[in-house]
Amino acid sequence: MGNETLTITDNRTGRTYTIPLTNGNIRTMDLRQIRKDPDDFGVMGYDPAFMNTASCRSAITFIDGDKGILQYRGYPIDELAEKCSFLEVAYLLLNGELPNQGELQEWEGTIRHHTMIHETTKKFLEGFRYDAHPMSMLISTVAALSTVYHEARNVHDAKIRRLQMARLIAKMPTIAAYCYRHSLGFPYVYPDNDLSYTENFMNMLWKMVEPKYHANPIMAKALDVLFILHADHEQNCSANVMRSAGSSQADPYAATAAAAAALSGPLHGGANEEVLRMLDEIGSKDKVPAYVERVKKGDVKLMGFGHRVYKNYDPRARIIKWTADQVFQVTGRNQKLDIALELERIALEDEYFIKRKLYPNVDFYSGIIYQAMGFKPEVFTVLFAIPRTVGWLAQWEEMLNDNEQKIARPRQVYVGAAERHIPPKTNAALEPAAIGA
Ligand SMILES: CC(C)(COP(=O)(O)OP(=O)(O)OC[C@H]1O[C@@H](n2cnc3c(N)ncnc32)[C@H](O)[C@@H]1OP(=O)(O)O)[C@@H](O)C(=O)NCCC(=O)NCCS
Repeated sequence: MGNETLTITDNRTGRTYTIPLTNGNIRTMDLRQIRKDPDDFGVMGYDPAFMNTASCRSAITFIDGDKGILQYRGYPIDELAEKCSFLEVAYLLLNGELPNQGELQEWEGTIRHHTMIHETTKKFLEGFRYDAHPMSMLISTVAALSTVYHEARNVHDAKIRRLQMARLIAKMPTIAAYCYRHSLGFPYVYPDNDLSYTENFMNMLWKMVEPKYHANPIMAKALDVLFILHADHEQNCSANVMRSAGSSQADPYAATAAAAAALSGPLHGGANEEVLRMLDEIGSKDKVPAYVERVKKGDVKLMGFGHRVYKNYDPRARIIKWTADQVFQVTGRNQKLDIALELERIALEDEYFIKRKLYPNVDFYSGIIYQAMGFKPEVFTVLFAIPRTVGWLAQWEEMLNDNEQKIARPRQVYVGAAERHIPPKTNAALEPAAIGA
């Protein structure tokens, strides 16, 4: 086995085991052979919240949290944001390579072809209350797509699978825009396939009575960049849910709805909405120090700060700051930016945040941009879900094609009562004979 091994001595038995290392990691199943006696179950890893457990091998996204590196299929995120469109990046994430011109044209054509949603799905959306949260509508509507595409259950048929993936990527902006317009009471706008992916999304969001919607190119580029930044983030909470739900061979609409549900929480994709609420609560720049004190006392969390993986600056936050400058040239500066910058300045100098390696994450500035673009905070997570659908689908397909994967089923360490038995009943009135049974 050479040196790529780990030697473990079980001090309970004195026995020694040699465990192979692959890419520097052990397979936790190799720990099972370590037993006190033949009846013993064997040693397991106990790892709540997967702090140090890899659940898969993946070739999609690479993150080095200490160095602040994010790459999709080997390409640095800043290069992709600068030089590629969102659909090129989507193709890269799904296929492993950037498309050539012909492949890109075909891919864009495929996505255009599937942007419409079935009229029954539109009617389904109309049934939601006027004040329904857009993310709740999105989750339910994505799940409802499986009522339309029955063949989606054939998850092992590559052709059928790819068709559903294209449908999901194409229909997500349509569903998201309909959820948004529903919450405003505006009529739905059908897709305009003359337009690019993001321009068409803007068209479905904001077109009113003008015959043709013309997107502002700076805003369209900014949205495209934001979509690229949010497209994948390796084994985050929602990607893990996508893989886990998909591992039961549920259809991709059901699995994507499950992933979107995971994304909706305030500790994940819901954080950008919470950042805006927090900035509203703070109110002005001079109130920032008092708020930071509350955070340090543990009364509140600084939303948009901290990350499970990044313990250095989140590389996406840097690109987002640049994007914010572009957007503010069109929309005018969002006043919340001053509060956010002051929060960042104070927090980055403060021992509490330095010690815990808490830096702004992608959500800290994205909400400020979205608000400047005219979105209500309730829609922010929906904007996150559109591009992340690509990442979920790439992770899902990789999982299905991985021979080592099976239905995801973690172990537990049982800490409940030992076997016990119901004592004989003492109240005679409740005895079966007494109640005439
Ligand atoms: C993202 C997040 C869930 C990661 O959590 P995690 O890896 O489990 O980190 P922990 O919760 O163990 O935090 C470690 C320490 O930092 C503190 N901490 C983490 N995030 C914090 C925040 N946003 N504000 C204040 N303190 C924070 C914790 O209280 C803990 O302190 P302690 O050691 O004194 O108990 C967490 O940082 C968070 O809740 N951030 C705010 C929500 C957010 O922006 N989410 C978007 C992620 S892209």
